[in-house]
Amino acid sequence: MSYFPYALYPYVIKPLLFSLDAEQAHDIILRMAAFSSNPLCLKIFSQETMPCPVKMMGLTFKNPLGLAAGLDKNAEAVDFFLGLGFSHVEVGTVTPRAQDGNPKPRLYRVRAAEGIINFMGFNNKGVDNLRENLKKRRSEGIVGVSIGKNENTPLEKALDDYLYCMDLIYELADYVAVNISCPNTPDLVKLQNKAHLSELVGGLKNKQKALCEKYHKYVPMVVKISPDLSDSMLDDLCFVCLNYEIDALTCTNTTVSRDSIYGMEFASMQGGLSGVPLRALSNQCLEKVKDRVGNKIPLIGVGGIDSPIAAKEKMEKGASLIQLYTSLIYKGPELVRNIVNSIGYIG
Ligand SMILES: Cc1cc2nc3c(=O)[nH]c(=O)nc-3n(C[C@H](O)[C@H](O)[C@H](O)COP(=O)(O)O)c2cc1C
Repeated sequence: MSYFPYALYPYVIKPLLFSLDAEQAHDIILRMAAFSSNPLCLKIFSQETMPCPVKMMGLTFKNPLGLAAGLDKNAEAVDFFLGLGFSHVEVGTVTPRAQDGNPKPRLYRVRAAEGIINFMGFNNKGVDNLRENLKKRRSEGIVGVSIGKNENTPLEKALDDYLYCMDLIYELADYVAVNISCPNTPDLVKLQNKAHLSELVGGLKNKQKALCEKYHKYVPMVVKISPDLSDSMLDDLCFVCLNYEIDALTCTNTTVSRDSIYGMEFASMQGGLSGVPLRALSNQCLEKVKDRVGNKIPLIGVGGIDSPIAAKEKMEKGASLIQLYTSLIYKGPELVRNIVNSIGYIG
C-alpha cells in the first residue's frame, strides 16, 4: 500500500515534467528522489509489492525487476528507488574521476514512440563520491554498481579505470556491472571485441579474486552488452564470457539504430535510443545470447519493458532478471507495482 497516489502520475506529474526540457526534468526527478530517501518520506512514497523471489549469482532478489543503470548515476537516491518496489538498483555508470559528460542538449524524448535518445557520456561525480553515498544507504535490497572508463582515458588504458573503480566499490556493492556498451563514450564499444574483452575481463577476474580474499566476500561480475553487435561479434563475446565464467550478462544497452523511429522528431540526434522502440532489437539480442550461453550464464533482460506483457516476454526469452528505465519516465512508479505484482501472480 502506498500513501502517494501514483495513479495520478500520467495526468499531473508527467505533463508538468514533460513541459520542461528533458534533462531539466530528469534533474528534478533525481533531486526529489534523493530528498525523499529519508525514513519519513519513504513511508509516503514507498509501494508494497508481491514477493516473487529469484536466486541468481548467489544473491536473493525479492522479485525479478530492477532499475537499470544511468538514472541514479551517483547513488544519491537508492533508498527511494528500492522503496518503489524494485528488487535491485543498478547505480552508475561511474568513472574513476568526475566528468561533465557531453555538451548539452544531450537528452531527447521521442514521444511518438515512447523512446528516449541520450548522448549523456557518463556524466558523474566520480567513484569516491559514489562510494560515500553507498555507505549511507539504509534499505534492504540489492545494489549493483556499473563501472566504466573516463572519456579521456585511451582504450589501451581502459582496464586501469575499471580496476580502479572495482577496487573502490567492491566492499559496498552486491554486484559489479562492467559497462562496455554505451555508445556515447568514444570507442567504448570496441571493448566488446574479442582481444580487448579478453584482456579486460581477464584483468577484472583476477582483481575480483584478490578482493574476494581480502574482504571474504564474493561480489559477482556482470557484463552489459550492446544490441548492435553482429552475430560473429556475439559469438566471440559469449565465448570470452563463458571462458572467464562471468556471473551474468545484461542484454542490452541503448542502440545507435534509428530504424524503429524513422522520420520521427529527434530521430537524427546522436546518442543511444531506449524505450519501446528498442524492445524488438533488444529481445532479438537476448534470444541470440541465450542460444549461445544456454543455462551456463544467467541473463538480465533490459530494453523497452513498459508493461507486464513486455516483462513476461523478456522472461520467456530467457531473462532471469529484468530491468527498466525509460518507461518509468513515461508511465510512472505505478508501472513497477503492476509489473512485479503480475509476475508474482503468474509465477
Ligand atoms: C538517460 C539514460 C542514461 C543512461 N545511462 C546509462 C549508464 O550510465 N550506464 C548503463 O549501463 N546504461 C545506461 N543507460 C541504458 C539503460 O540502463 C538501459 O540499458 C536502456 O535504457 C534500455 O532500457 P529501457 O528501454 O528500459 O530504458 C541509460 C539510459 C538512458 C535513457
